[in-house]
Amino acid sequence: MRIIGTGSALPSLSVSNDELATFLDTSDEWITERTGIKARRLLSTETLYDLAEEAAKKAIKSSGVAADQLDFIICSNVANRYITPGMNCILQEKIGATCAGLDINVACAGFVNALMLADSMIQAGRAKHILIVCAEEPSKYCNWKERDTSILFADGAGAVVVDAGDGFKAVHLSMISSKDVLYYERCMEETPYERNRKEGQPLVMRGRELFRMAVSQSTKDIRTVLEKAGMQPSDITYYLMHQANKRIIESIRTLLGEPEEKFPTNIENYGNTSSASIPILLDEMLAAGKIHKGDTLLMSAFGAGFVSAVCILEWGK
Ligand code: UT7
Repeated sequence: MRIIGTGSALPSLSVSNDELATFLDTSDEWITERTGIKARRLLSTETLYDLAEEAAKKAIKSSGVAADQLDFIICSNVANRYITPGMNCILQEKIGATCAGLDINVACAGFVNALMLADSMIQAGRAKHILIVCAEEPSKYCNWKERDTSILFADGAGAVVVDAGDGFKAVHLSMISSKDVLYYERCMEETPYERNRKEGQPLVMRGRELFRMAVSQSTKDIRTVLEKAGMQPSDITYYLMHQANKRIIESIRTLLGEPEEKFPTNIENYGNTSSASIPILLDEMLAAGKIHKGDTLLMSAFGAGFVSAVCILEWGK
């Protein structure tokens, strides 16, 4: 498998830390120092489906593959307005595709998991061209009365088109069942057999615990995937890390002993866009001419579960 096209889309509204501090007990100084975030993009006039469509159309255009030539659509999303049908069904018509698809929810690790699935499908001969769209709107399920998640998460979409190639060098997925560190609980309807209606609740996060798990497990999984690929940390051109918190990225970088310039970030302006963060970063780096044929990219993401996923891609193979 190899990536042959990329695209991304962000909401037009940018909200600064100072703006959040007008209604939350927080400050620009605290958010900047603890997370690296200065501003985030939040949905206001657009819908998540608009972002998903824009990112997908850009990825399709840059791949040179016609929408009706796609064989499969994989959408990564934690939650959107419709629990059913899947986002891939909603997107199919908007982008002019005719193929089937599926949605996956592997929280912020969705993109690497989608790449793994696409690689497996292509290797099995089940598809030639696959569209992956990671579209997330955590602002719609954060608790805006509290400062813990609402300062961190933001909205966005990133997409890629993949086909057969030799670019996907290694992948490693891990999971430690630990629901309480990060969860979003939906409201359950009352039934004739269970009168006790269950109210939902917005995103709940044990930030400090998650921070520690993210640093230790991601570093461990990065070392595992490097070993699988027979590589050293220094063989990687860029580490495209899930943009969760700049301090998490910095801690992992320090443990690996790699230089800062190998760890590009955009969390400063976009916040944590969940599974969309890596494909958005990839698309922006390509647009800026920073990724070249033969570069080796390591992608690492973690999230609710607790899950972690890491892969290595050689660009242009
Ligand atoms: O995509 C994956 C999902 N999530 C993550 O990756 C999140 C991982 N965790 C984190 O990024 C960090 O744990 C947070 C950014 C959520 C919190 O940073 P922290 O450095 O772990 O802060 P803390 O929770 O240990 O709190 C430190 C202090 C506390 O005050 P005291 O007890 O020291 O007086 C908090 O009450 O900072 C206070 N605090 C805040 N102050 C201003 C916590 N949140 C805020 C806030 N503004 N937003």
